Amino acid sequence: MAADKERIAQRYSLIAGYLKKELYILLIERKGIAMKKVSVIGAGRLGSATAYTIAQRGIADEIVLVDINRELARGQALDIAQSVARRSDTKVVAGDYGAVSGSDVVVVTCGMPRGAIEHDRMELLEKNKALIKGIADKLKRCAQGAIIITVTNPSDVMNHLVQKTTGFSEKKVMGFGNLLDSARFRQIISERLKCRPMEIEGAYVIGEHGEAMVPLFSNIKINGKVHSFSVKDKSKITKLLKNAAWDIIDIKGATEFGPASCIVDTVGAVLNGTKEILPVSLVQGGASAGILARVGKGGAEPIEMSLDDGGREFFERAKKKIAGYEVSAS
Ligand code: 2OP
Repeated sequence: MAADKERIAQRYSLIAGYLKKELYILLIERKGIAMKKVSVIGAGRLGSATAYTIAQRGIADEIVLVDINRELARGQALDIAQSVARRSDTKVVAGDYGAVSGSDVVVVTCGMPRGAIEHDRMELLEKNKALIKGIADKLKRCAQGAIIITVTNPSDVMNHLVQKTTGFSEKKVMGFGNLLDSARFRQIISERLKCRPMEIEGAYVIGEHGEAMVPLFSNIKINGKVHSFSVKDKSKITKLLKNAAWDIIDIKGATEFGPASCIVDTVGAVLNGTKEILPVSLVQGGASAGILARVGKGGAEPIEMSLDDGGREFFERAKKKIAGYEVSAS
């Protein structure tokens, strides 16, 4: 009797599994639910950490890794695919630019990383501009409709180059870095003021992802209450913030997990259409600089920023600095 029940239960669970699969295929075919695809250009330390984090969070159905070193991309894709094979159906593959086609989001991470000699991310401009221009030319053809996230440094200038070269809408091409600076801001404040990072709200960094970054102190709340920072605290925190990447690069040669995690927060906001407020670099008025925007499926919609006089002045200065490094797209 018990064996019969067991057999019947097994049969029903097989039928249920089959129906679930058929329903899923039907929904995909009818575009009732869309497959989510993300391509990551660059399979080095940051690109692979980004692809790995996307896979672990289960936010995409397909991840494509592209690298000039095809074998590296293939090895990383296989390793990442195996890391999720017991828990999800996420497809992770290496490919060329043809495989990028149909992506919802493309993350550009390749290029020379910050090394021991660069004291300002702008020093990477000459090394990375031809490479990024070439990639943007390819994305223009194969990534129509995708949201682009430019990570390669100097990310603000590179983002403008990608936007100009592709001709994609400004709101669909976002430079990355301010969200990472904001995460660092929160972590540094928590250490300085001896509070938990999750008790801190409104800690945003805008302007350049670089030396002209603008930490916004005036809207920060701790435990729901506006916190007034002393001049000494502001200056100490800003100094630590500007050195945050350096401290890690000096020890382990590169930053990986911090940027990867914040890149994937941005990718997730796009794929899931969260419309959450994130600091991103957007092209506005002749330069790409970090501002606050609502990020969702259509890209980034700038929001009104309440800046005090000091914040406004530093932001304008950052924009002017970035505009001074303008790269021609021709
Ligand atoms: C970072 O801030 C290097 O821009 C990279 O970690």
